[in-house]
Amino acid sequence: MTKEKTVYVCSNCGQESPKWVGRCPACGEWNTYRELTVRPASPSARRAEGVMAGMERRQAQPVHLSEVTAEAEPRFDTHDAELNRVLGGGLVPGSLVLLGGEPGIGKSTLLLQTVLRMAEHRVLYVSGEESERQIKLRADRLPEHRADCLLVCETRLEQIFTHIRNTSPDLVVIDSIQTIVSEAVDSSPGSVTQVRECAAALLKFAKESGVPVVLVGHITKDGTLAGPKVLEHIVDTVLQFEGDRHYFYRVLRSAKNRFGSTDELGIYEMGGTGLRAVANPSELLLTGREDALSGIAVAATVEGARPFLIETQALVSTAAYGTPQRSATGFDLRRLNMLLAVLEKRVSFKLAQKDVFLNIAGGLRVTDPAIDLSVIAAVLSSSVDTAIGRDVCMTGEVGLSGEIRPVTRIAQRVGEAQKLGFRRILVPETTLKGLDTARYAIELVPVRRVEEALRELFG
Ligand code: TYD
Ligand code: MG
Repeated sequence: MTKEKTVYVCSNCGQESPKWVGRCPACGEWNTYRELTVRPASPSARRAEGVMAGMERRQAQPVHLSEVTAEAEPRFDTHDAELNRVLGGGLVPGSLVLLGGEPGIGKSTLLLQTVLRMAEHRVLYVSGEESERQIKLRADRLPEHRADCLLVCETRLEQIFTHIRNTSPDLVVIDSIQTIVSEAVDSSPGSVTQVRECAAALLKFAKESGVPVVLVGHITKDGTLAGPKVLEHIVDTVLQFEGDRHYFYRVLRSAKNRFGSTDELGIYEMGGTGLRAVANPSELLLTGREDALSGIAVAATVEGARPFLIETQALVSTAAYGTPQRSATGFDLRRLNMLLAVLEKRVSFKLAQKDVFLNIAGGLRVTDPAIDLSVIAAVLSSSVDTAIGRDVCMTGEVGLSGEIRPVTRIAQRVGEAQKLGFRRILVPETTLKGLDTARYAIELVPVRRVEEALRELFG
């Protein structure tokens, strides 16, 4: 009989050490090591091992790389075009997928409505957070019920494996990984070690059985996955579900994908009957503008591989108190400060006594640097209280010396702007070379510097 063993585990990255160390050799963080007692596997834990042993194992044999067939893996169709695309063409058998997001953003709704549509598969939905009744109430709001979906409220990992053995599902959903505990680990649910051990056991199960497992994971306030970074290393795919809870839009991004590109992006709208995929986000994000208002500039952005037009809104007012306020929603505040400094320095525009508020419409978060030019334009437009024409949009990254830097996928941006009925688009001059300008009916206005762009817009 093996005795209980004590190990030390880094609470940041999950690195293990037989003795306490002050600084983690793996991630470099100080004072993150916690003592942990590892019990010998209990009989039920061993049973769980048995479940996996009883399943068909894939025997690994070294093969020559040239002999490996690179045929596309058969994938599970999720019957959700957005989700399929973000996953890189559907769920890969035997993969471990993590869906992260803030509480209340709609992770459980997305997974439940997806599994309810997958009629051809048997699904085991394990919930550690909600009762069967709560899930049923939610499911009743969703339109489609076609699947062979089994529900179980369980938090013990060993029990989950027993249910899996008894029901032999084609797909397992665990909502959420932070509520699951393994008897083999002596620490509380949601702790780094529990999350790591449970995820590792589920990974082993997925790889050996070929059954895909989808985990829900919570996100901490600073936007990282709660608990360990190590979870991101363990899983094959990390999807992030984000958006502002006060708006309807939700964006599904892939932060890591072993089976596809991380460029893809899915957009949903939360409604009374669950999440609806949004095929054309620009139309939704731009609607409802009757006349031109000051402080609004439209940017042609690309998120992932998808072009869309988005409104940048700014409000500039005289600071009531000593220190002026700077606030940004959906945009990096440091970047806003940098752009304001460029405005001060290059356009001699005095902002020292002004409050500046910036907002990206629709509650979306934009990471595309090509939105810079519209941020500057919106700030200036609000400040001089002059509206930008409704038929003008723009794209361009702004450099520190006020130059407009080239952007990626210019053809897609221009195409989208034209499709939505814009007449003029400001583009970085350097990108024009590679563009077949004759193809577009929209007027392309090449700009090199911020001053030039502002002159085009405000005369
Ligand atoms: P939920 O999916 O439980 O979020 P998470 O699992 O990420 O914590 O809940 C999302 C929110 O969406 C919840 O506040 C209720 C709301 N909602 C709708 O607006 N429409 C619907 O059809 C459903 C099912 C939920
Ligand atoms: Mg939930």
